[in-house]
Amino acid sequence: MTAFGTVFTPEMILSRYDGAQWSTPEIVPSDSITLHPGAHVLHYASTCFEGLKAFRHADGSINIFRMDRNIQRMAQSSRLLSLPAIDEKQLEQMIVEITGRFASEVPEPPGSLYIRPTHIGTEPAIGKAAAPSSTSLLYVLLSPVGDYFSGGSTALRLLLKEDGMRCAPHMGMIKSGGNYASSLPSMMEARAEVKADQVLYCPDGQVQETGAANFLLIDGNEIITRALDSTFLHGVTRDSVLTLARDLGMDVQERDLSIEELLERSAKPGTEATLSGTAAVLAPVGTLIYEGKEYTVGSGKPGPMTAKLRQMMNDIQWGRSEDTHGWLTQV
Ligand code: PLP
Ligand code: COI
Repeated sequence: MTAFGTVFTPEMILSRYDGAQWSTPEIVPSDSITLHPGAHVLHYASTCFEGLKAFRHADGSINIFRMDRNIQRMAQSSRLLSLPAIDEKQLEQMIVEITGRFASEVPEPPGSLYIRPTHIGTEPAIGKAAAPSSTSLLYVLLSPVGDYFSGGSTALRLLLKEDGMRCAPHMGMIKSGGNYASSLPSMMEARAEVKADQVLYCPDGQVQETGAANFLLIDGNEIITRALDSTFLHGVTRDSVLTLARDLGMDVQERDLSIEELLERSAKPGTEATLSGTAAVLAPVGTLIYEGKEYTVGSGKPGPMTAKLRQMMNDIQWGRSEDTHGWLTQV
């Protein structure tokens, strides 16, 4: 199996903003774009992206999951980075058109088609360190994928990090490239020093998120995760899982969760913890590493509630159960 996100369809769709309007979207080869070396994005990181997926149903239809949410988040990221405003309707049409064009490339379950809209500031103006790019490029790349974390079958190891942050606190809710670069040193350190799979950022001793997914604690009927604020990414998967948990009658708590409470609850045999994200889906967490000690979460193995919620979500995505929340768009 190739690594997640390394295989692309041969074409993508793009539109340019010239300072006044968006161009009619074009289908172009996906292996190159031409950028001036002085392009704003290359110097001042005017870039944001999205990640969503399309799924193949048993009847052969191709369905995109929660596209509206991802488009809204991209509009918000663009706004918060002072990139040109995107045309949400046009982006929706671009996503549907390119996904439909490559419908035959959408893998059978458990695979899916990962959709990566990307928006970059293109103005060649290196003097604009404190001014936005007046021009930009919006394109939608497609990548057939399997699971990001091996099918939810192994429980992940997370290093809890109290000092340092994933990114600047006011940037957390923006899905911007710079946030990922800024979290790399702590990620590399965690891998090398304690063989952690991910860092769980806990600024001020309160659980926040990891470098590429949100964090949820499941203790009996309770499901606990940080309340939305500007410091972390408002995951579409997080929202979907909390919605399904409410449907099940679970007690969903969006609130502060301290490291102390997390470790105390994790010590109970039935407790589960999971990461949630488009790429990660729901990836169980088995071990928390904090101040040099390792703490097992519940049994330390993937737990039944995580598996159940993952199954409920997958069943909707693959058309095996009714889409009661209207989350799918058929292309
Ligand atoms: N947090 C970060 C930092 C992410 O990169 C992602 C992945 O997109 C998420 C959370 C989960 O967001 P979503 O569920 O919308 O994919
Ligand atoms: C996603 O889940 O869509 C992500 O963006 C995570 C990652 C591959 C950066």
